[in-house]
Amino acid sequence: MTQMRRLEAPKAGDLFEGGRSSPVRSFDIEREDFERLRQERPELVVSDDAGVMLLSPHGGLAWLHYGFESVDALRGSFRLLLERLLSTLRSHEAQAGVFLRFTDLPNRPYVEPVLNESLFELLYEYMEMDLPELPDAPQPTDEIAPGFLLRAAGPDDTGTIAALVEAVFGEDTARRSVIDDNVRRSVDLRVIEEKSGGRLVGLLGCLPGPERTGEIAVMGVHPDYRRRSLGEAMMRWSLAWFREQGMRRAKLNARVDSPTAIALYRKLGFLPGRRGLVYRRPTDKRELDEMAAKRKGTYIKLGFLPGRRGLVYRRPTDKRELDEMAAKRKGTYIKFGGWR
Ligand SMILES: CC(C)(COP(=O)(O)OP(=O)(O)OC[C@H]1O[C@@H](n2cnc3c(N)ncnc32)[C@H](O)[C@@H]1OP(=O)(O)O)[C@@H](O)C(=O)NCCC(=O)NCCS
Repeated sequence: MTQMRRLEAPKAGDLFEGGRSSPVRSFDIEREDFERLRQERPELVVSDDAGVMLLSPHGGLAWLHYGFESVDALRGSFRLLLERLLSTLRSHEAQAGVFLRFTDLPNRPYVEPVLNESLFELLYEYMEMDLPELPDAPQPTDEIAPGFLLRAAGPDDTGTIAALVEAVFGEDTARRSVIDDNVRRSVDLRVIEEKSGGRLVGLLGCLPGPERTGEIAVMGVHPDYRRRSLGEAMMRWSLAWFREQGMRRAKLNARVDSPTAIALYRKLGFLPGRRGLVYRRPTDKRELDEMAAKRKGTYIKLGFLPGRRGLVYRRPTDKRELDEMAAKRKGTYIKFGGWR
């Protein structure tokens, strides 16, 4: 059983390796970023004898990474270590919240209740997609389609890009902050400009990465300009550009609820890989209070075993909420089929 597997505790000398190889982990930070964090903000990396946890803040949100030797160890230490980290986080470092990219799906039934207790909520599901070999392609040209130029984004574009992201992704602010983070991470951020009129109608963020793998961090086309092959042209441009940068492969994370984007990636040869979940915990006091209030009540959990479906019931404890519920249930009922 997964939760009983025990390995050695993370070695004090190499916390990174300990985290990266822990059996119960969500730990996808690169060593370089880990070491930088330890140098610049050592208090944002904490550990006890059973696990390691860290918060990596940038651009208004913080990513959580952890590794524990067992599910029991996670249950015992998660909250405590998280609280230690949150207390040292500076207010401007994670206004948008603390985010977790969770790929440890077999342990989800054990970890999710712990996340819920610490006021994390599920934002969306994604799928890693890989292109194992970049296609042969001529040098990428900037005019990706007649009348549309793909050019590097400059400082003057910042405001327009924010509006474009809102139009393209149209998400709530919590989800959009992940997209904003990807925009920020993109070493090469480009925009599609319509030559007549100069309107920005598309966005592409690429990152040449380790192991000669280029990452497409963000990409989208304005709703008014979709279905004109701009998305595909932009993707093909990025693959050719990766090749020019000495990359061999490409990868990206696709939102499972974006069938359009997934169709495009599959058309270009990307293969589906691991699935993952993104969770968020607010850092704003009011939002946290609201969330905690919503979750108050009596819960009965059924069937919380791996592989089985479960049901979560809730009985409010708040008097007003109880009265409202009771009022809603008053009325005349007719029951069918309630006999043998
Ligand atoms: C995904 C997106 C970039 C596609 O841009 P686009 O310019 O409209 O796409 P294209 O016209 O180049 O279409 C290329 C391929 O994408 C797929 N596709 C695009 N729109 C589609 C639709 N409405 N339904 C099904 N497939 C679609 C098809 O495979 C299409 O190939 P085809 O023309 O041979 O059928 C655009 O829909 C978008 O910005 N979506 C929101 C942002 C987003 O989801 N980004 C990805 C984050 S994971």
